[in-house]
Amino acid sequence: MQNRVNLVMGDITTLDTDAIVNAANTSLLSGGGVDGAIHRAAGPELIWECRKLNGCPTGGAKITKGHGLPARHVIHAVGPIWQGGDRGEPELLQRAYRSCYDLVEQYELPSVAFPSISTGAYRYPPKAACKIAVTEAREFFQRDTPFCVITFVCYDQTAMNLYRPMLDEVIGSDVRKGEEKRVLTPVT
Ligand code: APR
Repeated sequence: MQNRVNLVMGDITTLDTDAIVNAANTSLLSGGGVDGAIHRAAGPELIWECRKLNGCPTGGAKITKGHGLPARHVIHAVGPIWQGGDRGEPELLQRAYRSCYDLVEQYELPSVAFPSISTGAYRYPPKAACKIAVTEAREFFQRDTPFCVITFVCYDQTAMNLYRPMLDEVIGSDVRKGEEKRVLTPVT
């Protein structure tokens, strides 16, 4: 097996993968956007498990079971709210992705899927966030860990148009890039 990166468009809650990443807030008690979609799809057991986690700081990530989701786990990551870029946002977003990969490594997960953390309600500039997301994937592949399949899930064509060239620019050819495929549930 080889490290691989997939780029897909659609609803992350439909992915049958070892873990999907949630763009959560520090309370871990759900919200809108992808957070709300994941909690709706997972069912009420997810919020009960999250209540026991006592929140999560910005830049951190915590893991739960997937409950009613096809995914076996949810990694709840808290990205930064964009405040102009000089309040440590890039470092906090980097840290949020690294915190996810720390859990992937700790739980020996062979596959993980990411939404574009912080680029919705938290208003992080999408292209800058995309570069951090893809760069952190390349850094993860440098770790001495077993292979992993990383999937970036774009919720719209705009995001796809950012990720596709960024993957080519940042990820070397030694990582086999999965085909770009449209995921099961079209964006509603
Ligand atoms: N599947 C994949 N991606 C999605 C989905 C989905 N079902 N729903 C939204 N997205 C995309 C958005 O288009 C955006 O690109 O996820 C990205 C992150 O957007 P948000 O969900 O708004 O997350 P974020 O910007 O990190 O803000 C987090 O919003 O929902 C609340 O509780 C959450 O307070 C937290 C804040």
